[in-house]
Amino acid sequence: MKKDILTLLDLSKNDFDHLFQRARELKAGYRKGVCEKTLAGKTLGLVFDKPSTRTRISLEAAMVQLGGTPIFMSAQDTQMVRNEPIMDTGRVLSRYLDALAIRTFSQDLLTEFAKFTTIPVINALTDRYHPCQVLSDLMTIIEYRGGYAGVKITWVGDGNNVCHSWINAAAVLGLNLVLGCPEEYFPDPDILKRARQTGCGNIEVTTDPVAAAEGADVIYTDVWASMGQESESLSRKKKFAPYQVNSSLIDVASKDVLVMHCLPVHRGEEISDEVFEGPRSIVWDQAENKMHLHKAVLETLIGPTHNEKGLIR
Ligand code: CP
Ligand code: NVA
Repeated sequence: MKKDILTLLDLSKNDFDHLFQRARELKAGYRKGVCEKTLAGKTLGLVFDKPSTRTRISLEAAMVQLGGTPIFMSAQDTQMVRNEPIMDTGRVLSRYLDALAIRTFSQDLLTEFAKFTTIPVINALTDRYHPCQVLSDLMTIIEYRGGYAGVKITWVGDGNNVCHSWINAAAVLGLNLVLGCPEEYFPDPDILKRARQTGCGNIEVTTDPVAAAEGADVIYTDVWASMGQESESLSRKKKFAPYQVNSSLIDVASKDVLVMHCLPVHRGEEISDEVFEGPRSIVWDQAENKMHLHKAVLETLIGPTHNEKGLIR
């Protein structure tokens, strides 16, 4: 049966740990110039409805380096723009490709794609989730801290798609996650409720960014207006101003706090230039790890070992 990664709830803790371990091996190999061609003959389609630098290029580079081929399609250049139904597009693309990575607005559209394709579908960002981002971010935290158990991860800012994927990860892995967001921009209560029902991990939400950041091992932020919310930029800037990650906020965190941002960044808005470019920031390692983690995801879904290990639930 094909496996999809539509949200992080599609993965078990074993899946996460396998992906982290394999991504680490692939990264070490890449550093030594070793390139295993585990995806030779495989083709990944990328259907993107929103801009992307990191996710697109890291997925494409991952495919090429593992011997496979990526085919990028701007959704606007496909017949979807002329209303060809997903149920038709999905069935046709399944006849050409081995997997599909989709970046779009609606999570429902992604789910529909998954329903009507016979190949794995990977969520490359929707308005609701950004699962692979959080997978590679966790890989980065593990590199720096040796694991995720007991690490206090603080999210500061908008309760958005990336934040939702952090909540899902907390529920599967039992993370200690504290969210500091303006009340109007709290994460979706259903996503929180479902995560808390697992009884796994600790997820707290507060409107106080300083309380959230106190003793944090990781402080993570993201833009205040996500793709598609540009018209709200001005009003959001005012409401989010107290949530900027700056020197006074990181002063209350653990002294060796890791500062993370999924990028692209708006310097001087959600994070001060000083902190973003400062010694606690690990954003470039974070960005690099997207490629290694994507390799592990692709191998696990369509590589030679994808059935034997029985991963992705
Ligand atoms: N972090 C991230 O997803 O970046 P892109 O929008 O450039 O893909
Ligand atoms: N929350 C941001 C993440 C970009 C990678 C957005 O959706 O625009």
